[in-house]
Amino acid sequence: PLRLAVLISGRGSNLKAILDAIGAGRLAAQVVLVLSNRPGAAGLDLAAAAGLSAATVDHRQYPDRHAFEQALVTALDAAQAELLVLAGFMRVLTADFVHHYRGRLINIHPSLLPAFAGLDTHARALAAGATEHGASVHFVTAAVDGGPLIAQIRVPVQAGDTPHTLAARVLPAEHRLYPLVIGWYAAGRLALGGDTVRLDGLPLAAPVQF
Ligand code: GAR
Repeated sequence: PLRLAVLISGRGSNLKAILDAIGAGRLAAQVVLVLSNRPGAAGLDLAAAAGLSAATVDHRQYPDRHAFEQALVTALDAAQAELLVLAGFMRVLTADFVHHYRGRLINIHPSLLPAFAGLDTHARALAAGATEHGASVHFVTAAVDGGPLIAQIRVPVQAGDTPHTLAARVLPAEHRLYPLVIGWYAAGRLALGGDTVRLDGLPLAAPVQF
């Protein structure tokens, strides 16, 4: 099975969705490393409860981004991770790091990119009067939240929504989308060539929509 590393900074609900999909036989992969940049991240407890190998690389313990990322690379390569999955990982990665793992590094972002890159996506979608919102999975490049899009899942914005209620609608959609996309990669169906995403050998003109 595909050797996955999951990088987290906090709660780890997307990590849990991935583990549930593996456990249910819906995803042919194994999590060989859970890596957190935050000591005490709740997702580390999930990893421990699942008996997974987990490590913390605390960015505050390193003099600069390069040294921090070198420690990440050392841990990831020791685990022989094939696909790196960012799941609520809240550090920006440098061009050097993303080039090293180009085509093997994906992220989930809580908006319909290119709308609402960056932080506070739910509040910003509401403030902009969006009628639809959702989540996107993309290959990671040096452009923050700007890498080639693979798939998106949409949810309606409802009257009276707050950032909290909207987040609560998007999150379960993330949990459906991410294991599915990882499964495509695990099955050898998904690749990045240049800036073009290929699914089943065909270039994607637009992200797959759910
Ligand atoms: C998720 O909503 C994810 O899309 C978002 O953080 C949350 C992590 O939740 N990621 C980003 O904002 C990336 N910039 P989780 O820890 O429960 O999976």
